[in-house]
Amino acid sequence: MEFRTNHEIIRRARRNARGPVWDYLAGGSESETAMRRNRFGLDSIALKPRVLRDVSTVDYATTVMGHKSRIPVFLAPMASLQLVTPAAAQAVDDAAEEFGILNMLSGHSRPSLEEIAMNSLHPKVYQIYVRGGRDWLEELLGRVKQNNYDALAVTVDAAVYSNRERQMMAGWTPPTRTNSGGREFLAALNWDTWDEIRQIWGGPMILKGVSRPEDAEIGVQHGASVIYVSNHGGRQLDHDRATIQVLPDIVAAVDGRAEVFVDGGFMRGTDVIKAIALGAQAVGIGKLQAFALCAGGLSGLMDCLTILEDEIRIAMGLLGVSSLDQLDPSYLAKARPVDPPHEMSAFPHIPGAPLT
Ligand SMILES: Cc1cc2nc3c(=O)[nH]c(=O)nc-3n(C[C@H](O)[C@H](O)[C@H](O)COP(=O)(O)O)c2cc1C
Repeated sequence: MEFRTNHEIIRRARRNARGPVWDYLAGGSESETAMRRNRFGLDSIALKPRVLRDVSTVDYATTVMGHKSRIPVFLAPMASLQLVTPAAAQAVDDAAEEFGILNMLSGHSRPSLEEIAMNSLHPKVYQIYVRGGRDWLEELLGRVKQNNYDALAVTVDAAVYSNRERQMMAGWTPPTRTNSGGREFLAALNWDTWDEIRQIWGGPMILKGVSRPEDAEIGVQHGASVIYVSNHGGRQLDHDRATIQVLPDIVAAVDGRAEVFVDGGFMRGTDVIKAIALGAQAVGIGKLQAFALCAGGLSGLMDCLTILEDEIRIAMGLLGVSSLDQLDPSYLAKARPVDPPHEMSAFPHIPGAPLT
């Protein structure tokens, strides 16, 4: 392994990513309050260990949508990672397969969904932004089905494109924004569209971008297999709440009728443990995935996942739990963050953080 800590990965990523690329990966919308709240929420939870519980064997493997997962983590969909490294989506999928976790391929990825599928035997999810009507959906979902994707994630927190001010001030626009038409379909998205997609797709569906229990309830009624709690990493609605803060109410509303996923600011094994203790089935990593790719491509991402796995193992052992199902809210307490929250507050040894 080239990297022993994710600190080193972030530091290298910062060095490798030039100007607008760093801001594209690391930034949020407007004042970046929602983005920092994600970290603030995680940093506002302390862990409460038990002792003398025999943790000589710690099992952190789980299932995610019925598929075996080496750790309770998956790779969140990330557009335009080809800005970071060529054929990035392929590297991400290779890392998921080699490590043994689920990958959600962004609908805005390069190489294409066909090329990724050709090189991949493991379970995978395809994520869409709805950018067309019935014909568009039938054509795209036909290709997704034909290429044996196991599930479809529909992102629903992007009805309107947000102002990413770091990029705007740099006078730079990511390819996803310039190349893609059909925004009016994203704005018009509603439960009828969801039902139409469900009817065309006919397989498991993930509702990505939920932050209220009311919507989780409707999602379950409309057949979602997964309610995915997300505020897009604080890249869409600024001043949204921290995802870890809204998670418990959504878990309660879903009440075991679907799996609950969460993402938003997750950088550490201890972060993952907090979400599992609050009832999430799995945690998505976004920015951390991009930083790892930027630091070292496929091997950087493999190192990053191995470090995360080690952190999960250590946290569980020191909490006195030997399997994930032993985790519950009794292991958590409210706490005041030790530092002001920012996107790098999980990495205090990086000089000058936050890194802008
Ligand atoms: C560079 C970047 C690109 C993203 N592209 C997509 C995308 O194509 N589709 C999507 O549903 N979410 C996308 N997201 C949101 C992530 O899937 C995920 O919800 C978010 O990054 C999680 O927060 P985190 O970055 O703090 O881990 C993107 C996020 C980033 C940082």
